[in-house]
Amino acid sequence: MSDKVMIFDTTLRDGEQSPGATMNIDEKIRMARQLETLGVDIIEAGFPIASKGDFESVRAISEAVSDIQVAGLCRSVTKDIDRCWEAVKDSPEPRIHTFLATSPIHMEYKLGKTPDQVVEMTEAAVSHAAKYTSNVEFSAEDASRSEWDFLVRVFNTAIKAGARTLNVPDTVGYTQPHEFHDLIRYLMEKLDMKDDTVISVHCHNDLGLAVANSLAAIRAGARQVECTVSGIGERAGNAALEEVVMGLNTRKDLYDIETGIVTEQLYPSCRRLSQIIGQPIPPYKAIVGTNAFAHESGVHQDGVIKNRQTYEIMTPASIGRHGTDIVIGKHSGSHAIKRKVEELGYTLDDEQVGAMFDAVKELADKKEQIYDEDVEALVLEKVYRRRDKFRLKDMSVFSGTGEVPPHAAVIMEFGDEDGEVEIRKTTQFGRGTIDAVFTSIYELIGYKATLESYAVNAVTSGTDALAGVAVRISHDGIKAVGRSNDEDVVRASALAIVNALNRMEITREERK
Ligand code: KIV
Ligand code: ZN
Repeated sequence: MSDKVMIFDTTLRDGEQSPGATMNIDEKIRMARQLETLGVDIIEAGFPIASKGDFESVRAISEAVSDIQVAGLCRSVTKDIDRCWEAVKDSPEPRIHTFLATSPIHMEYKLGKTPDQVVEMTEAAVSHAAKYTSNVEFSAEDASRSEWDFLVRVFNTAIKAGARTLNVPDTVGYTQPHEFHDLIRYLMEKLDMKDDTVISVHCHNDLGLAVANSLAAIRAGARQVECTVSGIGERAGNAALEEVVMGLNTRKDLYDIETGIVTEQLYPSCRRLSQIIGQPIPPYKAIVGTNAFAHESGVHQDGVIKNRQTYEIMTPASIGRHGTDIVIGKHSGSHAIKRKVEELGYTLDDEQVGAMFDAVKELADKKEQIYDEDVEALVLEKVYRRRDKFRLKDMSVFSGTGEVPPHAAVIMEFGDEDGEVEIRKTTQFGRGTIDAVFTSIYELIGYKATLESYAVNAVTSGTDALAGVAVRISHDGIKAVGRSNDEDVVRASALAIVNALNRMEITREERK
């Protein structure tokens, strides 16, 4: 049996089903490129039949990556499979991933099909997909609540019809490690596996066991694991990629299994995702949370000072968390900035490094110490932000009470496709200064979005810290997140709302 487990990343499909994790095409491409750098074997880029936007993003990702398999998800229905193939066919190594539920409850209530009909549908779907490619994956949805012998029957049908990868999802996060281990063993014994047949697992985290179940399945012989960066996903999420990989690496003595993952890219990948979806990594998150390598108690600190291994089972460097070897400041040259940016997981061309150099100098004039978070915030602001439709030009805010309530004066620029810029100004009252600014911005753009969430945190420490603001808004059935960093919290809030509104515009255009 192979001693390599394939990492199938579904951040852009199952992960994106996580509330508030919607990404536009540009963001998905950026994340896909990071996943390629991380070394995942397969990217599940989306569910092409779900919408035109999904189809376009799967197609765009297929064209954007250079040396990786790209999978599209589809139900076991001819038109879904055709659409999926259309979306992935231009990728370096396309994969069709088709699924059908096999548990009694799903077959009866969701599909309204008998077991025999499910077997027939499996045969029809897989053989149709196999006409396009030999790289076909079949998933038995809700496998962990299916009858084991029925699973054997369905999977053997899929193998015969041309499926190379058989995926065993724990769709509702119900199974337990020892049970899942036994199921995978059972399948390995009973299936008519060919030399290239691979058993895959896909675990959800409803009982907090997604990673444990995935590792148990690997011990039993599964050689593909489906997971997501930081474990984002439907409901309680999916198995966290970084936890599965570091589990295998740290306990190589138990598993003796390789992955193709460049572990030093794990932290940058989680950071990248967090920036894109506007949700911070929880401090207590295993492997990548801020506290994962922090030692608070005196006894632990003492041990770590004497020998780090007393309380650390892996090094921060092994997952790409670096200390502040390269200190960025007023006198940093472009080489140092390029190194720092690479350390944070971004690869920039010379022109982008030039833009970063100017931005760092500008920030260094205002701020004594520049932290990694500041540099990353600048990369996102200066390099990745595409030409925005709305731009905040100037603003001033006044606090007040009674007859003189808080109010704001805001000037914005509105750019059109031909590069023409229109300036609009307004002054509006609000219940507080931030409300006054948001009301002014809505007045200028001509509609009011609903503010679903608003979070502010200090990106760095000290009184000159950058304030990081993340907002989630919705309007007209479209949701968008926005974020920004600024020394002034009200300005950071205004920039975050403008950022969200620009992203909403992109989604609106993509939908058109
Ligand atoms: O959780 C699940 O069952 C899935 C399948 C479509 C693979 O996401
Ligand atoms: Zn899933």
